[in-house]
Amino acid sequence: MDKFIIRKMLESDLDEIIQIEKRVFPDAWEREMFYSEIREHDSKVLIDTSKSKIIGYICGWKIIDEYLINNVAIDLPYRKKGLGQYFLSEIISEQIKQGVTKFFLEVRVTNIGAINLYKKLGFKELRVRKKYYKDPVEDAFEMGAFYGN
Ligand SMILES: CC(C)(COP(=O)(O)OP(=O)(O)OC[C@H]1O[C@@H](n2cnc3c(N)ncnc32)[C@H](O)[C@@H]1OP(=O)(O)O)[C@@H](O)C(=O)NCCC(=O)NCCS
Repeated sequence: MDKFIIRKMLESDLDEIIQIEKRVFPDAWEREMFYSEIREHDSKVLIDTSKSKIIGYICGWKIIDEYLINNVAIDLPYRKKGLGQYFLSEIISEQIKQGVTKFFLEVRVTNIGAINLYKKLGFKELRVRKKYYKDPVEDAFEMGAFYGN
């Protein structure tokens, strides 16, 4: 993973991120949603340093000892190479060092790739949230992972 680095997301990253977001999600976030994540929370990007290119990102909210993952993606050409697992484990380790013990997220019930990844990282399905997603309408699993305590 030597050629990949993780750093804070900046407003100047948003042109690249929005392009990935549109490729990846049918219900892509608008630019404004990323602005508030950058201003009010601690979002991160994964960079391929050999190409000076953003290849993934994560937006999360730390609330005392909880961390809520709101958005995570790896760009299409970089999938299935262990990068999603690497990126998320690094974020989780960093948050644990800062006192987080509980992680939560929602995921489309048909998003098997992401669900498998989260399970590998210790997440469990907690409940189904009916019609949580729009475009297309779909149920979500709320998943959680609990460390320490
Ligand atoms: C989910 C996502 C981040 C995974 O990133 P990735 O870099 O391809 O994942 P990794 O290569 O690190 O895979 C780690 C594990 O996740 C699981 N996994 C990842 N992609 C998978 C797929 N397409 N099908 C089944 N399992 C998959 C596997 O268990 C894999 O372990 P393995 O390679 O030993 O089988 C990526 O597919 C993505 O960006 N998807 C679109 C956005 C998205 O759905 N985000 C989550 C919203 S809740």
